[in-house]
Amino acid sequence: MCGIIGAASSRNVGKLLIQGLHKMEYRGYDSAGIALHQKDHVTRLRALGKVQALEDLMIEHKPKSKLGIAHTRWATHGKPSEANAHPHASSEQIYIVHNGIIENYKELTKKLKDSGYQFASQTDSELIAHLIHHHYKNNDLLCAMQLAIKELEGAYAIAAVDLNHKDQLVIARYKSPLLIGVGIEENFAASDPLALAQLTSDFVFLEDGDTAVVKKDSYEIFDAKSKSVNREVTHLDIETSSVTKGEFSHFMEKEIFEQPQSASNTLESRLGSNDVLDNIFGLGSSEIFSETKRIQFVACGTSLHAGKVGRFWFEEIAGIPCYVDFASEYRYRNPLVEDGTLFVTISQSGETADTLAALRYAKDKDYLSTLSICNVPTSSLARESDHVLFTNAGPEIGVASTKAFTTQLVSLLLLSMSIAKSQDKNPIMREAITKELKDLPAAINASLDTKTAIQKITPAIAEKNNALFLGRGIFFPIVQEGALKLKEISYIHAEAYPAGELKHGPLALVDDSIPIVALSPENDLTEKLISNLEEVKARGGTLYVFGEGQDQFTIDSGSYIGMPKCNKFIAPIIYTIPLQILAYYVACHRGTDLDQPRNLAKSVTVESVSYTHLTLPTKA
Ligand code: F6R
Repeated sequence: MCGIIGAASSRNVGKLLIQGLHKMEYRGYDSAGIALHQKDHVTRLRALGKVQALEDLMIEHKPKSKLGIAHTRWATHGKPSEANAHPHASSEQIYIVHNGIIENYKELTKKLKDSGYQFASQTDSELIAHLIHHHYKNNDLLCAMQLAIKELEGAYAIAAVDLNHKDQLVIARYKSPLLIGVGIEENFAASDPLALAQLTSDFVFLEDGDTAVVKKDSYEIFDAKSKSVNREVTHLDIETSSVTKGEFSHFMEKEIFEQPQSASNTLESRLGSNDVLDNIFGLGSSEIFSETKRIQFVACGTSLHAGKVGRFWFEEIAGIPCYVDFASEYRYRNPLVEDGTLFVTISQSGETADTLAALRYAKDKDYLSTLSICNVPTSSLARESDHVLFTNAGPEIGVASTKAFTTQLVSLLLLSMSIAKSQDKNPIMREAITKELKDLPAAINASLDTKTAIQKITPAIAEKNNALFLGRGIFFPIVQEGALKLKEISYIHAEAYPAGELKHGPLALVDDSIPIVALSPENDLTEKLISNLEEVKARGGTLYVFGEGQDQFTIDSGSYIGMPKCNKFIAPIIYTIPLQILAYYVACHRGTDLDQPRNLAKSVTVESVSYTHLTLPTKA
């Protein structure tokens, strides 16, 4: 996790670096820091908490500089504190920022301590500064960086400056994203092009093992063998309006209300008049799909829920079985790969460490091919998969995923139709789904109208500490997503169950103190769901039911919120919307920092803190 940025320019860079950090707060916001070169010394400012605290320090100190590096942190190793904030320094000579995890931290720290280096933090990053210093000879920062990274195991994107060079940054990448932003009389380095959106549209993405020297009017890249290489410049127009809140109070609110447009962006140029278009997953994908006998989905969190919904569609539309796995678990067992299995990752960011590691692990197995459904075209996942479908949701800034999820669902419908088409299955069903998808933006708009009714029920839910979410069939993963939204932004404990499971245990939780949120669309399971809800009513439970036309269902305690009538295949997408709105208003009511909830970060680019990094209490 964490976001890093660096700049070499002919103008002052302090403000540019701070602006870039603000755009990368989705990567973490436990602390932030900056190092600015000032001819005879380097000024380092660090602050606990969000980037705003660092910006306040900058306003107080007003340092001026044309070369600098900066960092926003999500703590993995060492608690959030000023001492653990980046940049880290060695002998007031070398300053570095780092994103990633150094796995051989213990051995390297011991070695450096034995040769006299003193450590000022509990991070695994500080050793990188000392290691570069240890290798620094003849004023050659690049060579010192190249020697240092040879000793590192783990993942890193690093940017470094040294006191002897007021005009250059040296950067390095391995398994953590890093790119160069190419400007006029200035060049930059950053974890994400979004951080540089207002500065340039030209980006060079580094590959694993690359190092580079970045100056204001030039940059040079070296591969893992230290050989000078050319890497392609990618032109990207990143809309800056999509990284501001506009008329909305929070990014999450804006992103919820953007969903008619984001769904329409996902569909653009992918649907013909009666069917999905060919090869929307890239040239040659139709041939792969004609041989696909089953699907292995791997993803995390919200994206995993999308895969669980997708399973129902693949079984019904494409007639093929699906397995859905947590990316964090998948590679720690020995999955048996059956003939003709397509490996599919789902990820908003395309940088989630667990999902990327699962993809890399899968490449050594006998999968038919790898495919990714991803929102970030420049991401590692997109670049490393054989086939990709971009969800085109636009930047999602709120930590809780909303429009990324619904566009993943739309993409999965397109994938299941594409596979069915390649195998000549269910043409009439495909035509019906095409029609439903064309109506989707309007149907999402109608479901956004539930906002007023939902605002009325939020105070009652906001005062509770627990909630239960119920759904059946394809709506079970939708209520799992609803429960995840509520817990991550309102800090209310929420659990989701398939309603038929209630009687096997969770019914014991039901009394008048626990709100129970249920989805009750019109489908084959409606009657069964209603009888499950009757069981809850009989135990005095407070029900908040979202449904269509079940006027016969009366609620003694709680509310019934009518949903617009919607067709079968798009219904899971439509029913997601009120659960997002509910979580949003409950969190607003509780006054949480809902765009940046505690302990979380938007893009989880580390697996976890390695066990060997923890100091365990010794037995008395
Ligand atoms: C929750 C949320 C997370 C992400 C998960 C995977 O609202 O956003 O659960 O879905 O961290 O992230 P991506 O999709 O970027 O791989």
